[in-house]
Amino acid sequence: MDIDAATREQLQNWEKELNAQYQRICEHELSLDITRGKPSADQLHLSDGLDGILNGEYRAADGTDTRNYGGLEGLMCARELGADILQVPVEEVIAGGNSSLTLMYCAVLTGYLFGYAGNKPWKELEAPKFLCPVPGYDRHFAICEQLGIGMVNVPMTDSGPDMDAVEALIEKDRDIIGIWCVPKFSNPTGVTYSAETVERLAQLGRIANPGFRIFWDNAYAIHDLDNQVNLANIRTATVENDTADSVIQFASTSKVTHAGAGLAFVSASSDNLASLKKQMQAMTIGPDKINQLRHARFFAEFTLLKEHMHKHAQILKPKFQCVLSHLEKAFKDSDLGEWENPLGGYFVSFNTRPGCAAAVVELAAQAGVKLTPAGATFPYGVDPEDRNIRIAPSFPPLDELDTAMSVFVLCVKLASVRKQLEML
Ligand SMILES: Cc1ncc(COP(=O)(O)O)c(C=O)c1O
Repeated sequence: MDIDAATREQLQNWEKELNAQYQRICEHELSLDITRGKPSADQLHLSDGLDGILNGEYRAADGTDTRNYGGLEGLMCARELGADILQVPVEEVIAGGNSSLTLMYCAVLTGYLFGYAGNKPWKELEAPKFLCPVPGYDRHFAICEQLGIGMVNVPMTDSGPDMDAVEALIEKDRDIIGIWCVPKFSNPTGVTYSAETVERLAQLGRIANPGFRIFWDNAYAIHDLDNQVNLANIRTATVENDTADSVIQFASTSKVTHAGAGLAFVSASSDNLASLKKQMQAMTIGPDKINQLRHARFFAEFTLLKEHMHKHAQILKPKFQCVLSHLEKAFKDSDLGEWENPLGGYFVSFNTRPGCAAAVVELAAQAGVKLTPAGATFPYGVDPEDRNIRIAPSFPPLDELDTAMSVFVLCVKLASVRKQLEML
């Protein structure tokens, strides 16, 4: 289908054919959902051994009675798990509750209200703002939006954020006090930042406002589908560049064990952790150490965690293959869409022709297939070109995903033809 070369008559014929197919699908009254990146029930079962693993043994190896209050930084054995995932020293890790997003919120709030490591609170700046590589993770943007922190779009490339743009923006605007990064299997593009990008990010601390922080959300650090993809270590790079204070890292076991009942980790320099702990102290007496101990026993060695992630990959791989084969079959030799081939993570990011994404989502919804709202991957929910759609293959069973993808490609074709007709 070469839309640009087609005559009006040709387009009208296509519209008629595609619309007839679409109407037939609507009659099936489907109810399918490929919106959020949740683990499937099969994946959750992999961690059911957590239940009962303590068997009455509540004391951690260091003697801590995990049933009691205390220990703001988390159990040492849980911090070790976080240190292994993020590849950082254990003294620089806090193990928290079940959500890294909560830790991110807390970390942004710390910068906003109190400032990090003796720097001015961000709220005292004229117009504090974060750089947001786009498309990106909607919940990062929601934190900034709620606190009234401005957001500046930066394009994502296949090696990470466009670093020329990042550096130019930071050099000219001292009110830029943060950047959101999902450095491995980025949400939603699946891109892993190149070593050069990591190095350039590590150097930003030299030119930015001293209160500037990189929010390094390594949510998919160990979520490789096949061979391990290497991400350069940002901590090492910042230490070498004498900018160790410029980065705060996050991870969690949300997509490792039970999504709603895992552990989250934050890692940073001792000065940053001191600022964070000051705020956390006012919020909590300490995390759920019983759950931390359950996880530490479940993954007594890092190799067990690796094996566990391999089992996740075996479940996820056919789902990614299903999505990708639908896209290839439908669009390989056309200009109706572009996508990346992710090597891990939870998403496939699809770009329609300009001005079609919202229409695709609407058509799919009418046919009973729920997609992430168009625009959700951009700050303020506004995709300036109305192109990006995030596909989350993990949750539905394979047969449902297969049906949902058939509907998806049909909706992309129909919306593209209609858009072209509109523009003639
Ligand atoms: C990039 C990213 N960060 C964080 C989260 C949520 O993490 P948590 O469950 O630890 O709050 C997600 C979930 O989809 C995510 O994609």
